[in-house]
Amino acid sequence: MKMAVVTLFPEMFDALLDYGISGRAVKQGLLEVGLYNPRDYTSDRHQSVDDRPYGGGPGMVMTIEPLRSAISEARQWAAKLGRDGSGGKAGNDEQTARVKVVYLSPQGHLLNQAAVNAFAGGSANLVLVAGRYEGIDERLLSLEVDEEWSIGDYVLSGGELPAMVLMDAMIRQLPGALGHEDSAAQDSFAEGLLDCPHYTRPEEYQGMRVPEVLLSGDHERIRRWRLQQSLARTQARRPDLLAALAPDSEYNALLADSGQQREAGGSSPDDGEKS
Ligand SMILES: C[S@@+](CC[C@H](N)C(=O)[O-])C[C@H]1O[C@@H](n2cnc3c(N)ncnc32)[C@H](O)[C@@H]1O
Repeated sequence: MKMAVVTLFPEMFDALLDYGISGRAVKQGLLEVGLYNPRDYTSDRHQSVDDRPYGGGPGMVMTIEPLRSAISEARQWAAKLGRDGSGGKAGNDEQTARVKVVYLSPQGHLLNQAAVNAFAGGSANLVLVAGRYEGIDERLLSLEVDEEWSIGDYVLSGGELPAMVLMDAMIRQLPGALGHEDSAAQDSFAEGLLDCPHYTRPEEYQGMRVPEVLLSGDHERIRRWRLQQSLARTQARRPDLLAALAPDSEYNALLADSGQQREAGGSSPDDGEKS
């Protein structure tokens, strides 16, 4: 897969591309990343990329050119595939890929796991456009952008962090990116629920013991306990997620059981076990 980013601050992407799971995925060649700086497509001495807004008001607006030239080059790179349909080495341009241009914007669709999975599993390579200042001239959006996506109802200073959020979330879904193949499938949202609580050594810390069931070695009991914890947690913290799920008899039974445990004064799903 190829992801191109159009950004005034390409150096910021070192944080994503040099570290952890995302850094390893790049080194393994699971994805290729291309960075395109609109300043490299300017022709004036000051390498201007912004101008004052028509109608007045505070702030500056990103001008159509050179952003459009940067997007155009990013688009061509992202469309190029090697002869075998993978990779994308320059010169090996016998096959082309579908390309989607995405503008990160607080006015876009709200990003969630389903959207991330659709991007990661889709056939299109991406060109991500990171805005700065007050945003981008509206005409560029009509001419070049296929979709707008937001990472939340708040305003950041630029689209670089949102682009990295989308990229990181997508990379986790690429086959081979995580050490353990099932990891992503067990994360929050994968099955429409929040994840269960996790514990590691020591068995007891400041009077709080690891729940006994996790030490039992009984895989079926552990599976049911984890599912029950996930369900109870989701019910307590994100009832909207639970309401969106199709009816499931095991879920209903486990939820009813955890409700009874709470009424009987047992440990709440969010508690560690106190000894
Ligand atoms: C200061 S913001 C511009 C905000 C714009 N004036 C508005 O109110 O809609 C600059 C850039 O940050 C990015 N950005 C800010 N908040 C974002 C969010 N929640 N999701 C995605 N991108 C965001 C966009 O690329 C935007 O062009």
